[in-house]
Amino acid sequence: MKIGILTSGGDAPGLNAVIRGIVHTGIQVHGEEFVGFLHGWKGLVEDTTIPLTRQQIMGISKQGGTILGTSRTNPFEHGGVERVREVLERNGVDALIAIGGEGTLAAAKRLTDAGVRIVGVPKTIDNDLDATDYTFGFDTAVQIATDAMDRLRTTGDSHGRCMVAEVMGRHVGWIALHSGMAAGAHCILIPEVRTSIEQICAWVTSAHARGRAPLVAVAEGFALDSMDDAHSERGLDAFGRPRLGGIGEVLAPLIEERTGIETRATTLGHIQRGGTPTAYDRVLATRLGMAALNSVRDHHWGRMVALRGTDIVHVPFEAALGSLKTVPPARYEEARILFG
Ligand code: F6P
Repeated sequence: MKIGILTSGGDAPGLNAVIRGIVHTGIQVHGEEFVGFLHGWKGLVEDTTIPLTRQQIMGISKQGGTILGTSRTNPFEHGGVERVREVLERNGVDALIAIGGEGTLAAAKRLTDAGVRIVGVPKTIDNDLDATDYTFGFDTAVQIATDAMDRLRTTGDSHGRCMVAEVMGRHVGWIALHSGMAAGAHCILIPEVRTSIEQICAWVTSAHARGRAPLVAVAEGFALDSMDDAHSERGLDAFGRPRLGGIGEVLAPLIEERTGIETRATTLGHIQRGGTPTAYDRVLATRLGMAALNSVRDHHWGRMVALRGTDIVHVPFEAALGSLKTVPPARYEEARILFG
């Protein structure tokens, strides 16, 4: 069998480990052949490919990014099913493995419904797909954010300042919750829970009164209870979604003004998506890649591999697209005990 692979949407540490897991198992165990489409669906509709051999995947599981490149291209804006079928046929590709987040899997579902043979691998550092317990890339992002917050705390301590650390998390606050708990933040602000500036300042003041330099961890998708939507000042992305980022810089002067405590904000941004994946992410990504290859061999079209507990299972695309995995209220209440 000849199998095509593409990585699409925002990158995540561990993408290369997935590719290696698929290709290694496919070549070594089953003698399959592979081709990589470059820059996600863009490479598929434009027919730009590279062969994926043992040589190509040597030593890549510890590398960040993706050797295939990625983009936020929507195949339905570039020829749709007919073009995809034509390019797959021209390359002699029997089945496709699409590694990506919600947008990628939504396109994969539409193509599968039209008869294209696709298996999916979920990807997002935000960890917001309900059909899988964890996505690879999340653990790395949390570790990077925790390291950054540990550093912000030492400089904050030196100056007696309040430090605001903004992390990624468009719809959900998993990165903020985990890194904030790990770094001992005095307040964690997530998209799921609107909060007043008065409450934030009360937590900051209480930590400061105990002689601590307050640390506020905030997800980019957080909105104050006085705001209509999440803060966005950089227009729309390719899917028409507002580009987020900057809420930390909005909060810092408000906190300083109301508490009298000198405050600084740092936005971590894409640093959270770059560099070497953690061991956990490499192992999870490798296992998902191996399972995706097995799903192709079992003809599980229209399904994606997922983590349930410690097992890799497969679920239909629609289950993956149905709902976001938000932070449950109980998890936030648990973290709240540590605030202030
Ligand atoms: O979906 C993952 C994510 O990292 C979000 O947290 C963030 O809002 C977005 O991607 C940023 O996307 P881009 O790389 O296109 O700026």
